[in-house]
Amino acid sequence: MIKIRRIRIGEFDLYRKVRLRALKEDSYAFCATYESALERTEEKWRDQADKAAEGSDQAIFIAFCGGDPVGLSAVYKDKRKEDEAEVFQVWVSAESRGTGLGKRIMDSVLEWSKSSGYKRIIATVANTNKKAIGFYENYGFEKKLEDSEETKMAMEIGSKKSAHATRARARV
Ligand SMILES: CC(C)(COP(=O)(O)OP(=O)(O)OC[C@H]1O[C@@H](n2cnc3c(N)ncnc32)[C@H](O)[C@@H]1OP(=O)(O)O)[C@@H](O)C(=O)NCCC(=O)NCCS
Repeated sequence: MIKIRRIRIGEFDLYRKVRLRALKEDSYAFCATYESALERTEEKWRDQADKAAEGSDQAIFIAFCGGDPVGLSAVYKDKRKEDEAEVFQVWVSAESRGTGLGKRIMDSVLEWSKSSGYKRIIATVANTNKKAIGFYENYGFEKKLEDSEETKMAMEIGSKKSAHATRARARV
C-alpha cells in the first residue's frame, strides 16, 4: 500500500537515502548531482529535513510502498515572492511510475501550499525532460517562461485547472 506523508523531525537519514537514490538513478532530471550530494555534511541534511518537517516555509513529502521510500518532493516558499511556493526534487522510483503516484505526491504539495496560504506553485524543468513537462501540464501547470535550458511552469492555486486536478483524484 502506498502512503505519502510529510517528513518528521529527525528523519534526515530517510530524506538523504531517497534523495541520493533519485540523484543516482535520474541525474538528468535535477540540477544537483549525486556526487555533490554525497559531499553534503550530516548537519546540512539534518537542518534541511528538520526545517521541512513543520511550519509553512518549506515541506518535504515522502511516498512509501510498504516501508520503502519510493517517491519524493520538496516545496519551498519563494523568498522574493511571498505568495509563491516552488516545487523541487519531484521523483518517483522507476518501478512505481505510471501508477498515479506522481500525481498523488503533487496533491500533497498542492494541499500544503493551499493551506499555507500560497497563491501559485512554480516548477522549473529542464527542456530535455519532456516527460516531466508533460506530467506538470497534465497536472494543471502552464508554461510561463522558456530559455535555452529550462522551462518555468506555474499553477494558480484555486484556479479551475487545479480544482479539476484535485477533483479528478477524488474520483479515483
Ligand atoms: C515525472 C514523474 C515524477 C512522473 O511520475 P509518475 O508517477 O510516472 O506520474 P503519474 O503516474 O502520477 O502520472 C503521470 C501522468 O502524467 C502524464 N504524463 C506522463 N508523461 C507524459 C508526457 N510525456 N506527456 C504528457 N503527459 C504525460 C500521464 O499521462 C499521467 O496522466 P494520466 O493519469 O491522466 O494518464 C516521474 O516520471 C519521475 O520521477 N521522473 C524522473 C524524475 C523527474 O523527471 N522529476 C521531475 C523533475 S522537474
